Amino acid sequence: MLIRVMSASLAGLSGVPVHVEVDILRGLPGYHIVGLAGTAIRESQLRIQSAMRNTQIEYPQRKIAVNLAPAGTRKEGTHFDLPIAVGIAAASGALRMDGWEDAAFFGELSLDGQLIAIRGALPLVLCARENGVRRVFVPAANAQEVALVDDIRIIPCRSLAEVVTVMRGAALPSMPANVPAQQEQACPDYADVRGQEAAKRALVIAACGAHGLLMVGTPGCGKSMLAERMVSILPPMTKQEQMEVTKIYSVAGRLDESMPWVEHRPFRSPHHTITKQALLGGGAVPRPGEFSLAHYGVLFLDELGEFDSDLLDSLRQPLEEDKVTIVRTGGAVTFPGKVILTAASNPCKCGHLGDPKKACICTPQELRKYRSRLSGPFMERIDLHLSVPRVEYGEGEKGLSSSEMRKLVMRGRRAQEARFAGTGILFNSQIPAAQLDQYCLLDPEADALLRMAGRRLALSMRTYHKTLRIARTIADIDGAASIGTAQMAEALQYRPKDVEESVY
Ligand SMILES: Nc1ncnc2c1ncn2[C@@H]1O[C@H](COP(=O)(O)OP(=O)(O)OP(=O)(O)O)[C@@H](O)[C@H]1O
Ligand SMILES: [Mg+2]
Repeated sequence: MLIRVMSASLAGLSGVPVHVEVDILRGLPGYHIVGLAGTAIRESQLRIQSAMRNTQIEYPQRKIAVNLAPAGTRKEGTHFDLPIAVGIAAASGALRMDGWEDAAFFGELSLDGQLIAIRGALPLVLCARENGVRRVFVPAANAQEVALVDDIRIIPCRSLAEVVTVMRGAALPSMPANVPAQQEQACPDYADVRGQEAAKRALVIAACGAHGLLMVGTPGCGKSMLAERMVSILPPMTKQEQMEVTKIYSVAGRLDESMPWVEHRPFRSPHHTITKQALLGGGAVPRPGEFSLAHYGVLFLDELGEFDSDLLDSLRQPLEEDKVTIVRTGGAVTFPGKVILTAASNPCKCGHLGDPKKACICTPQELRKYRSRLSGPFMERIDLHLSVPRVEYGEGEKGLSSSEMRKLVMRGRRAQEARFAGTGILFNSQIPAAQLDQYCLLDPEADALLRMAGRRLALSMRTYHKTLRIARTIADIDGAASIGTAQMAEALQYRPKDVEESVY
């Protein structure tokens, strides 16, 4: 008897509906799978055979044909074990599909018949729902991840045996009780940072206008500490944003029972030895990389000077487009990545260039090499350049806390929302050069200041544009409609400087 079971395959962050067709044919016993199945699916026979045997369901010693329709698209993933096993049991008459035509099945089987958590459960269940599925069997370990999907009945099961008993009429298993509750964000607070008020101000500006930020300073001055706290001053994610980020983590296989749902903005800090694939995403079944894992949050490149320049170059386009496209033989997949880029670096190899307390011991060659790494096209992505001075032990006040800083960010964000409503622009950092005049209204004195600074400091056109965008953000934080001299003067401080010019 030909049996058709609903499932889906992953393509990037979305699912594609797949019908698993199983038939038992005349001929020598065997297991034949067609329909562009990936390696993990072709290997499913042993898992399925053993799981069925250990669940006391007969595995037919006949010619089993499995077709994954539509046959033209590549399918990947171990979650096809369950729909294939159900299809085989039904085709051999051990299980009846009557009444379950509206159900979809996802799950990997272990040899003893347990259902193992799968990657991408959230997009797969969303895809099933969009295609008219009313009930969906998932491994119990994925239940919380998909608990918030409405209009579909989730049936979490621990084993193939449980799936079979439910299909034979047993009561549906209940959902786990502790569906993700809003916990307080476990992010450290800016109240812990002593002094560094200028850096905190720059972080507020960066967070408000989504400007890229580079902090340069001596070792141990608190750069990493400052960057780590950045998510604590961003507005909370909306449910829609949480859903998008959770999909990314689901496809990356990063969700588990301790974090079934991503509620808080991510902070990702890849090490400088990271590979291109781990940074941007990739693999046979493409997984998102660190760039996409930081979606709607902060991507922090610590020790920027140590990153390979090719790696930084490969990040340029994704940063510009807010997404990364991975091209494979089976087609291209796109993962989003709307991130606030934050970077930190020492001023030189030994770390003490410009430090009033300690002499720099770098050779001129070393200085030149280090500087060349901190320049180049990647720096175009960074609007705010900041020198972070050292704070002596016992010095420095306990300044603004994260909640006070977040209030400033929110005020500036509201001004941007009002200004850019319906334009497709979200943040000041995205204002196209051609529209700067329209959006960045200057007081006459501020205009005169910018012109004078442009001449004196020989600012490039690019720096000039960046300064205008930053000044716009500062004015938004201050609640000013047009940009005044104070805001312009502040914005000019964040221009890219030669390392030697940095003031400690
Ligand atoms: N302003 C500060 N207030 C409180 N603690 C600080 C401050 N600056 C540094 N520290 C302490 O010093 C430690 C080192 O700081 P951090 O790792 O942020 O330095 P860094 O600038 O990133 O150094 P490196 O260049 O070596 O990476 C922090 O864990 C923190 O305990
Ligand atoms: Mg550090």
